[in-house]
Amino acid sequence: MKVFTGVALAALSLGALVGSVGSGVAGQAGTNPKAGATPADWIQVAQAAPTQAALVAEGGPLFARNCAVCHGNAGQGDIGPKLAGNPFVNSAGAVIAQILHGAEEHGMPPFQEALNDRQIAAIATYVRNSWGNTAGPVLPEEVARTR
Ligand code: HEC
Repeated sequence: MKVFTGVALAALSLGALVGSVGSGVAGQAGTNPKAGATPADWIQVAQAAPTQAALVAEGGPLFARNCAVCHGNAGQGDIGPKLAGNPFVNSAGAVIAQILHGAEEHGMPPFQEALNDRQIAAIATYVRNSWGNTAGPVLPEEVARTR
């Protein structure tokens, strides 16, 4: 039963993340047999090794809000360097450190206070797997270890 709950919630949350399915999700919620799930259940599911697809889906809007102004919506670069096809993104550790600490003397702010581990993992995964980049996921645990 516990496993079923996790799978059902994961499926629902993935549906919500993949986005633009608002009415579909609302419909599912109405018939959700596990409507009594607590926020703690959700957090548990969210922390259970997110998939690359889930992280990319979460990271897109976060990138648009926090990074695109300088790096371009398509990672093409502007004030900040181009991220599409940039070999820098192949190092997970370098990307995590760049987001956490920024490079203030060169015009990039730090995000360690503004974003949590999961959000930074999602943005890093998005950047590493968009616009032709194929560097793989960054997990929240890796961000936590780098902080
Ligand atoms: C205010 C502008 C600005 C914002 C916002 C910003 N960056 Fe940057 N970013 C820069 C600049 C400028 C550099 C170059 C820093 C340097 O040369 O040391 C940079 C460098 C980088 C690099 C290293 C690229 C390389 O080739 O050296 C990565 C990766 C990066 N940013 C990702 C991000 C992500 C992800 C976000 C959002 C969480 C973000 N940046 C937000 C301006 C910005």
